[in-house]
Amino acid sequence: MSQSAYKRILLKLSGEALLGDHDYGIDPKIIHRIAREISDVVAAGVQVGIVIGGGNIFRGAGLAASGIDRVTGDHMGMLATVINSLALQDAMERIDCTTRVMSAISIKEVCEDYIRRRAVRHLEKHRAVIFAAGTGNPFFTTDSAASLRAIEIGADLMLKGTKVDGIYSDDPVSNPDAHLYETLSYDEVIEQKLRVMDTNGIVLCRDQSMPIRIFNLYREGDLMRLVQGHPVGTLVA
Ligand code: GTP
Repeated sequence: MSQSAYKRILLKLSGEALLGDHDYGIDPKIIHRIAREISDVVAAGVQVGIVIGGGNIFRGAGLAASGIDRVTGDHMGMLATVINSLALQDAMERIDCTTRVMSAISIKEVCEDYIRRRAVRHLEKHRAVIFAAGTGNPFFTTDSAASLRAIEIGADLMLKGTKVDGIYSDDPVSNPDAHLYETLSYDEVIEQKLRVMDTNGIVLCRDQSMPIRIFNLYREGDLMRLVQGHPVGTLVA
């Protein structure tokens, strides 16, 4: 029996979320904590899809700025998301949360190809599904991939875990008067250039009426409170 307000969610994690105290790569303590929080949500009966970025290893746009061909850089970034996805799968399966990794680019020896109907079947069987390799296309961010997968799998809500509590009127670090928004419309986020998610991803959610909640991934227990229906973070709808 689900103790959740939602049947199916899509959780977007940035690659940087895995850094912890490290400058590069994956902090084992952090990935274990994130895996534990996700597996608790799965155990509560929620179907969970996950999109993870690759910025802790390679980021296409950053590589392009240093002279690497943009498409090649984006392919390197996609492979970085595969590495993170495998690490998260390993962390989740070590605590007995059955997980499948499905990649938007075909690397059959490593993980399954992304097939939407198969992904939905995995979710129905209460396996967490990690969607790797972004959208499989250059010039798209993993925010766009998260929006796309959330819509494709028919999620009730897309969640984006960040380092801050939600969307603020200004940078809360440099401006102590910045206030946290409880709700915003998609257009307010776009027009005010709040840069909490890339614009393509927000437009896709707006056009398909996919609500988004931005929350603090580092506040332990917030993910569970959120799926139980508590108004954690900022709702964009
Ligand atoms: P059911 O069809 O519901 O039984 O799903 P399942 O995922 O358990 O069955 P399947 O036999 O398709 O997969 C068994 C294992 O092989 C799972 O861990 C899959 O993630 C993995 N697997 C399936 N297809 C591929 C693939 O193309 N490449 C790789 N590397 N692994 C795969």
